[in-house]
Amino acid sequence: MTQKNILAGNWKMNLGISESRELALDLSSLSGTLSKTEIWVAPSFVCIPAVVQATHGSPLRCGSQNVHWEAKGAYTGELSIAMLKECGCSFAIVGHSERRHIFGESSSLVAQRALAALSAELTTVLCIGEKLEERESGNTDNVLEEQLSPVLEKLTEQQASSLVIAYEPVWAIGTGKVASLTEIEEAHASIENYWKSRIQFAPCPPILYGGSVKPDNFEGIINIDLVAGALIGGASLNYDKMKAMADISES
Ligand code: PGA
Repeated sequence: MTQKNILAGNWKMNLGISESRELALDLSSLSGTLSKTEIWVAPSFVCIPAVVQATHGSPLRCGSQNVHWEAKGAYTGELSIAMLKECGCSFAIVGHSERRHIFGESSSLVAQRALAALSAELTTVLCIGEKLEERESGNTDNVLEEQLSPVLEKLTEQQASSLVIAYEPVWAIGTGKVASLTEIEEAHASIENYWKSRIQFAPCPPILYGGSVKPDNFEGIINIDLVAGALIGGASLNYDKMKAMADISES
């Protein structure tokens, strides 16, 4: 069976508990009608229990926007894998560009998060992507490799099976400026080539595209062979937009 398209909503620091519950309920009903598409949502941490409870029994997957590598301890502001699992999270996003560039998370720190979550068999969406100046100076592939390398260096076969990669050019996130289909195709191919050059024991994981994805541009993006789905910020806060993209994915 071919893998279903993943429509993953990253709600970032938006939506309170009741708003999250409402949107999640609508999306969980929608997800029950889909055969070729999975819907994943990453609400803010405090909304996760409400979302999990409201959508119990539906195929909708709830995840977190980050995760720490240690089991417990003095790590103010962080959450452990066990805490997230206890809340019902089935995936975690790590290395989002806002974590890297606003909060200064390095690729090696992101790799610690990713490898710990993967060891615990928590599906991990590892975000990578270049800034505009890096693209303009011809460094896109180097940046992607630098961000992937510390994860691939230590990855085991068992960990690889829980990994999802999200290619999100920083300049396309929240800007309304979507990468061209050629740019997306080239970046995804370069990620896959780099993976193959480093990892022989497992196939390249699904690669999502993210950055200003919305119903208007989704069709072209999802029809690219190496695109396994989308990581969606702004448009994922709106049920109608998610429904429109799910319809395109199903068609
Ligand atoms: P956007 O965000 O869809 O609002 O550009 C994408 C993301 O940050 O994952």
